[in-house]
Amino acid sequence: MSSTWFESVAEAQRRARRRLPKSVYSALLAGSEAGVSYRDNTAAFDELGFAPHVAGLSPKRDQQTTVLGQPISLPVVISPTGVQAVHPDGEVAVARAAAARGTAMGLSSFASKPIEDVIAANPQTFFQMYWMGTRDWMIRWMEHARQAGAVGLIVTLDWSFSHSRDWGSPWIPERLDLKTMVKLAPQGVSRPAWLLQYLRTGRLPDLSVPNLAEPGQQAPVFFGAYGEWMQTPPPSWEDIAWLRQQWDGPFMLKGVSRVDDARRARDAGVSAISVSNHGGNNLDSTPAPIRALAAVVDAVGTDVEVLMDGGIRRGGDVVKALALGARAVMIGRAYLWGLAAGGQAGVENVLDVLRNGIDSALLSLGHSSIHELTPDDVLVPDGFPRTLGAAPAR
Ligand SMILES: Cc1cc2nc3c(=O)[nH]c(=O)nc-3n(C[C@H](O)[C@H](O)[C@H](O)COP(=O)(O)O)c2cc1C
Repeated sequence: MSSTWFESVAEAQRRARRRLPKSVYSALLAGSEAGVSYRDNTAAFDELGFAPHVAGLSPKRDQQTTVLGQPISLPVVISPTGVQAVHPDGEVAVARAAAARGTAMGLSSFASKPIEDVIAANPQTFFQMYWMGTRDWMIRWMEHARQAGAVGLIVTLDWSFSHSRDWGSPWIPERLDLKTMVKLAPQGVSRPAWLLQYLRTGRLPDLSVPNLAEPGQQAPVFFGAYGEWMQTPPPSWEDIAWLRQQWDGPFMLKGVSRVDDARRARDAGVSAISVSNHGGNNLDSTPAPIRALAAVVDAVGTDVEVLMDGGIRRGGDVVKALALGARAVMIGRAYLWGLAAGGQAGVENVLDVLRNGIDSALLSLGHSSIHELTPDDVLVPDGFPRTLGAAPAR
């Protein structure tokens, strides 16, 4: 076994903290305001229990399923994140790892690598975008993603531009010019392994977002594109139905936590939703998605694929989410920490940790497949579930 192997996501996080400059690590940790949602996302999983069997267990356990029409070998998909400055290979390393482990990849429109490079590494790539800019721009980005070969679209709607945290936000420069490099130098020098990795490639993180470039133009910088997004009036449900019509393949709405919104998303024609609070980076005090999941599944689970993301750190968490009705889960920080700790191999390691944990839980619960999981497999304490925005059933 390689000496760089790690046994848990917690260890990947420790290594990421040691390896990354403070501001980069802190940008990955994220969370918003008091961190109530950020903490609840993981704490809620700890409240759920298992009741294991000891004999009559299944010698073989199957984890295969599909998400947005894509066959995947474990019920875990890479959630879209911008990974500027974590690793020089960025999303391409993540895509290679996901492909090597047989799963799909969500690519953020704020990602640091062009979609063509990511799809070359993993053809099972979904492009993620926000409601941002003009309708013409959005059509062009979708067309670009389609031509590049994206097999699905993820539209994320839960960002509320919350920019403060009680534990402080890192300073992130608009671009890395000489002045900012001098300012950031002490952080880089204190993390020589990270710095060396970049120096070997002959360049520093450039903080640009190539997938939001206008045809024939240079890629905009992260904050330029972000400013554009902040200026965009938020969408109506009619806008979402329009957006959905522009994409003639599988379409996920990410960030839903209310039952009434889930129904509206279904009515707008989406193929899937992810119950999510953006990893707790959004409106603080939004409950953990695992608490809101069952009510959303009850409302729309037979009409659309329901996934969840937020707080997944071990295979047991995945099994709890599936038992409560999720088709699969998406992960964010877990793979970002793996990427920081070991590049492609680190992300593969994280997926292996999750796969092994899922397998152990299935074994104990006496199942031969993830498809046999039901709510009876988890002990749900009184007061655990949250039903957000319940509207009369239609
Ligand atoms: C650093 C960071 C950047 C993110 N960027 C995006 C993004 O560009 N698009 C998006 O839809 N979600 C983004 N997310 C949210 C993730 O896709 C996902 O919902 C969240 O990380 C899940 O929670 P977890 O980190 O506890 O797994 C980001 C999350 C983090 C931590």
